[in-house]
Amino acid sequence: MDAQSEGKDTKDKMNSEDFYTNAISYWEGIPATVDGVMGGFANLSTNDVTGSKKFLSSFITGPEASVATNRALDCGAGIGRVSKRLLLPLFKEVDLEEQNPSFLERAKEYLGESGRRVGQFFPTGLQEFAPIKGHYDVIWCQWVLSHLRDADLILFLKRCCQGLVPHSGIIVVKENIARDEDEFDDNDSSVTRSMEAFLRIFSESNLVILKQELQPRWPENMFEVALFALKPKTT
Ligand SMILES: C[S@@+](CC[C@H](N)C(=O)[O-])C[C@H]1O[C@@H](n2cnc3c(N)ncnc32)[C@H](O)[C@@H]1O
Repeated sequence: MDAQSEGKDTKDKMNSEDFYTNAISYWEGIPATVDGVMGGFANLSTNDVTGSKKFLSSFITGPEASVATNRALDCGAGIGRVSKRLLLPLFKEVDLEEQNPSFLERAKEYLGESGRRVGQFFPTGLQEFAPIKGHYDVIWCQWVLSHLRDADLILFLKRCCQGLVPHSGIIVVKENIARDEDEFDDNDSSVTRSMEAFLRIFSESNLVILKQELQPRWPENMFEVALFALKPKTT
């Protein structure tokens, strides 16, 4: 297949009626474990969290800190891996959004004592979810945005802007990046986007990139993982 028809094929699959239902079925069959939510790469979890901590630290600690640590939202939270190891140690309260209810049930045990500081669990798909308005210092979206169609992702990011504490809140996106064209994965019904696609989507969502970097020390035979800190464009 040539590159043009591959691109069209990806768009057709993303727009197909069963794009969302296929992802629900896929995740229903995955064990509620760190290995499950990391696609069999639980061994990379510590490296991932270390990279995220470093990325976030310049926003929340030190003289240049501009973002408060009252409330964070973990989107596509899975069993709460990111909440447990990154967000709950840094924020007073964390909410979890996740489509698969059995992952959220598991999160309630997995988070242990720190789970007492969870505000709310939202068992819904991001394509239908609106964060509480003006509420969050950080909205964290990791390894889940590949499950949204472009148009739904743009609308979701715009709703996230409404969910941020005005003037200081940020959205962090941490996602796999395709080297060339967007790549559709029939297995879990997701699309891995190119850097170009993300930049276009952020721009169409009226977001400005405050900081951008690649996850360090990541295996070369895997997709690169990019981190973006974003804030709403002011007019
Ligand atoms: C690769 S796992 C990542 C989980 C977590 N972010 C982490 O890094 O540990 C992807 C998660 O996205 C969830 N998910 C898939 N489609 C979703 C959607 N449309 N809305 C919300 N969550 C979704 C899955 O159920 C799964 O828990």
